[in-house]
Amino acid sequence: MTAITIPKYSYSSILNDAAKITWQVQDLISPDQPLDFTKPFLPEAIAHVQVIACLDADEKLTLNQIRGNSYLHLFGLVEEFILPLVVNHVQSIGHENIEATEAYLCFAEEESKHIHLFRQFAAAFEAGFESRCEVIGPAKAIADFVLQHSPLGVALVTLHIEWMTQRHFLDSVRNHQGEQLDPQFCSLLKHHWQEEAQHARLDTLMVEEVAKTLDSPAISAAIDDYIAIIQYLNQGLKAQVQLDITSLEQATGRTFSVAERDEIRQIQELSYQKAFLGSGMSHPNFVKTVQALSPTGYARIAALATTFS
Ligand SMILES: [Fe+2]
Ligand SMILES: [Fe+2]
Repeated sequence: MTAITIPKYSYSSILNDAAKITWQVQDLISPDQPLDFTKPFLPEAIAHVQVIACLDADEKLTLNQIRGNSYLHLFGLVEEFILPLVVNHVQSIGHENIEATEAYLCFAEEESKHIHLFRQFAAAFEAGFESRCEVIGPAKAIADFVLQHSPLGVALVTLHIEWMTQRHFLDSVRNHQGEQLDPQFCSLLKHHWQEEAQHARLDTLMVEEVAKTLDSPAISAAIDDYIAIIQYLNQGLKAQVQLDITSLEQATGRTFSVAERDEIRQIQELSYQKAFLGSGMSHPNFVKTVQALSPTGYARIAALATTFS
C-alpha cells in the first residue's frame, strides 16, 4: 500500500460547484452563432504562428484557425478515453459513497457533453473554412491504445490533461491582452474550462483512490504507462503538424519549399508539445500528485517534460 499526500478535495464541494454550471451545447454553438473567420481563434501563446518567418499576416491567421480546429479536435479525442476511464471507475467503487458516485457520473456526463460540443464545432468549422482540414484519428483507435494501459497510468494522463486545460484558459485565453480573438471560440473554451475545474479535482481524488490499492511496483508500472501514453501522444501531435501544413497549403494555394516546410514543422511541433505535453507535466498540482505518488517516478516525468518546453 502506498500513502500519498495530495490536496484535499471533497465530493460535496465539487458537486456544489458542478451544479452552478448549467450550459448546454446548443447555448454555445448553433447556426445563429457562426465562427468569425476574420479573427484568430487561439491566443498566440498557444498557437505560436507569429514567429514563422515564411508566412505573411493572412497565412498566419489561417494557420491560427487550423490550430483552433485541431485544438478542439484533440480535446475531443482525449475525452473519448477519459469517458470510459471514469465510467469504469464508477463501477469499481460501488455505491457506498453515494456523493462520489454522483460526482463521477456528473464528470462522465460532462465529458459526453464536451465530445458533443467539439463535434458541433468541427461541423461549424468545416462549413465556414475555405478548404478541408485533416485531423488525426480515428478516436476509437487512440482510445483503444490508451485504455490497454493500467487505470492509474490512464488516470495520470487524464489528470495532466485536466490541469493543462486550466492552465491554458487562465494563463492564455482569459487575459489575451491585445489579441482580438473570435468571441465564439473563446466562449467555447471558457465554458469547457468551467467544467474542467471540477474534473481536475475529481481526477486527483481518483488517482488517490486507485493508488491506495497498489504497491510500489504497481505504482512504478503506472508511471511507465503514463510515459508510454505521453510518447504515443507526442507522435500523434507530430502527425497533426504534418496534416496542418498540408491544410495550410490547400487553404493558401501555396506549395512550401523544403526549407519553409521545415521551419513551420519545427516551430509548430514545439508549440504542440508545449501546449499539450509540457504544460500538463509541469502544472504545480499535477507535480504535487506525482511527487506524493512516487518521487523517482516524478524525476523521470520531469526529465521528459524538459524536452517539451
Ligand atoms: Fe472536457
Ligand atoms: Fe475533463
